[in-house]
Amino acid sequence: MRVEEKTAHDVLVERERYVPRGIAASDLVVGRAWGAKIWDADGREYLDFGGGIACQNLGHGPAGVVRAIHEQVDRFLHQCFMVGVYEPYVEVCRRLDDLWPGEAATKSILVNSGAEAVENAVKIARSATGRAGVVVFDRAFHGRTNLTMAMTSKLVYKQGFGPLATDVYRAPAPYPYRGVSVEDALHGLDLLFKQDVDPQDVACFVLEPVQGEGGFIPMPEDFVQALKARCEKHGVLYVADEVQSGCGRTGTVWAIERLGVEPDLLVSGKTLGGGLPLAAVTGRAELMDAVHPGGLGGTFGGNPVSCAAAAAVLDELSAPGFRERAEQIARLLRTRLDEIASRQPIVGEVRGLGAMLALELAEPNATEAKRVVADARDRGLILLSCGLDGNVIRLLPPLSATDAELDKGLAILEDALGYDGAD
Ligand SMILES: Cc1ncc(COP(=O)(O)O)c(C=O)c1O
Repeated sequence: MRVEEKTAHDVLVERERYVPRGIAASDLVVGRAWGAKIWDADGREYLDFGGGIACQNLGHGPAGVVRAIHEQVDRFLHQCFMVGVYEPYVEVCRRLDDLWPGEAATKSILVNSGAEAVENAVKIARSATGRAGVVVFDRAFHGRTNLTMAMTSKLVYKQGFGPLATDVYRAPAPYPYRGVSVEDALHGLDLLFKQDVDPQDVACFVLEPVQGEGGFIPMPEDFVQALKARCEKHGVLYVADEVQSGCGRTGTVWAIERLGVEPDLLVSGKTLGGGLPLAAVTGRAELMDAVHPGGLGGTFGGNPVSCAAAAAVLDELSAPGFRERAEQIARLLRTRLDEIASRQPIVGEVRGLGAMLALELAEPNATEAKRVVADARDRGLILLSCGLDGNVIRLLPPLSATDAELDKGLAILEDALGYDGAD
């Protein structure tokens, strides 16, 4: 029997039996998805403001991407780039170079997941600098592998999994809503350099331009620029982790384009594969070439079908009109969220960059956010929470959503928050 023919209940019972509890449980059983909508296995329709955690910036099943996948499936499925070179891999690297947020000539490697890409960025930075240290920031999320869980800053992702990787140092990041200013954060970094690690031993800073799992906190321009100045002073490389903030989410292809800094290395993933697993490290060619032949790679990294999808994704992201629509959506969401926040006392702050927007609830615990997410789900809207305290509700609707779909989703969010629209 195919999974789609079972009821949602049947699938959940089997999930309980065959899948370990370590993978956080959702009780949504997806039967079909298209555009900004998901239908569960029982045929119930939902608006999807979770977007597979930022993998669906172009919506479910974008026509050009699906066509490119079909065409590649008919040519060949797998090759292993180390055994036989193929055009789709090289094409994605060429397009990533075209879209590089700066002047440098770049090269890229393609891998399977965001975490694997972050690990590779660190390997490249270490190899290029001959230094071991990695500086990461409060509320960072970089993945669940051994190195990246040490770089990630939430206990649930590392509890019981030690020993953790060494030479990872954490500095504060600005969080104005909870009282951490740019000045405070930089002071913390300078203290780190006095107390814990000599900046001459640091290979790279790794920072999300908009912190994702940590609570959709946009990094202020002056903070990012001050980090870049320290990079230049101490010979440290700047790695932008754009796995969640990239691929058009904030309007520009990369969020860092809005911050006036050219990174040395940039990590992308999620929407890059349009729903297929693909992530990349792109960086200045001389840094990327610092690693000896054979030091990078992997069996499935840059799978031809994922690459065909990614080339189509990158085409769409750079097509005229994409950014304009993303910015329209950002304005629509921001206006409505500000309105809700002004009338709804449980909302503490509306923040984000472009269409990467969230509401932080005033109470620093997960209780209300869980209730709102569950209530919205009952009303037909999929939402995700995030933040160290689990009290941030993030919005990641497909940027292909219509105004009517966005309005409907926001109306459901208002209802779930308890706001009835009355003055
Ligand atoms: C900023 C950031 N970096 C890295 C990762 C890890 O990506 P993956 O889950 O594909 O390993 C994520 C995943 O959410 C992310 O948001």
